[in-house]
Amino acid sequence: MKKVFTLFAAALLLVACNQPKESMKNEAIENIMTRVSVREFTGEKISAEQIDTLLRAAMAAPSAINKQPWAFIVVTDDELIAKLGEALPYSRCSNHPACAIIPCGDLSKAIEGEMGAFWINDVSAATENLLLAAHAMGLGAVWTGLHPDMNRAKLVQEMLGLPVHIIPLCVVPVGVPAEQPAVKDKYKPENIHYNVW
Ligand SMILES: Cc1cc2nc3c(=O)[nH]c(=O)nc-3n(C[C@H](O)[C@H](O)[C@H](O)COP(=O)(O)O)c2cc1C
Repeated sequence: MKKVFTLFAAALLLVACNQPKESMKNEAIENIMTRVSVREFTGEKISAEQIDTLLRAAMAAPSAINKQPWAFIVVTDDELIAKLGEALPYSRCSNHPACAIIPCGDLSKAIEGEMGAFWINDVSAATENLLLAAHAMGLGAVWTGLHPDMNRAKLVQEMLGLPVHIIPLCVVPVGVPAEQPAVKDKYKPENIHYNVW
């Protein structure tokens, strides 16, 4: 009897621990906490309106001095998506995405001088917004890196005919998910330091 009670108490405790905190019972927070990289897609196309929403979300990101030093290439052409997949196996473009969005830095809009490299932070913020928006819309997406790997970035520059001042940061294949990867719990209290190290 005592054993049954202990087991019951342990089960109750487990359920209680897995309840989201009050501050996490919010749609936006829930969306952030449940986003995962999706690398397999059904091949189904998505609408122009959905793509528009993704791009608006990306461009809502913060940027240093509000320079917005970005440009987005939306690759919808299946042949071009397949070519990206062949040239860049890690981009997951061979896995039937509806499109591939390529967030780029526009150096002509970047801060002049040594602070110019802030474009990487700015375009990264835009990319994360894009990923979160895709997830909120029931779509799947994954950030696949180009910059600072100059070989990968150059391949994309040439394939898509980008002018020299447009630097592709990453390739984000987007589509209807054909997989549902488990959410990863990455919270580590030891990563946090209050006030001083
Ligand atoms: C800068 C950067 C580069 C990445 N490059 C790749 C990549 O080339 N291919 C890929 O499949 N995933 C890539 N990822 C996705 C990561 O593997 C993924 O975010 C990480 O494993 C955590 O998983 P999650 O996104 O599901 O939380 C990249 C992510 C970042 C931020």
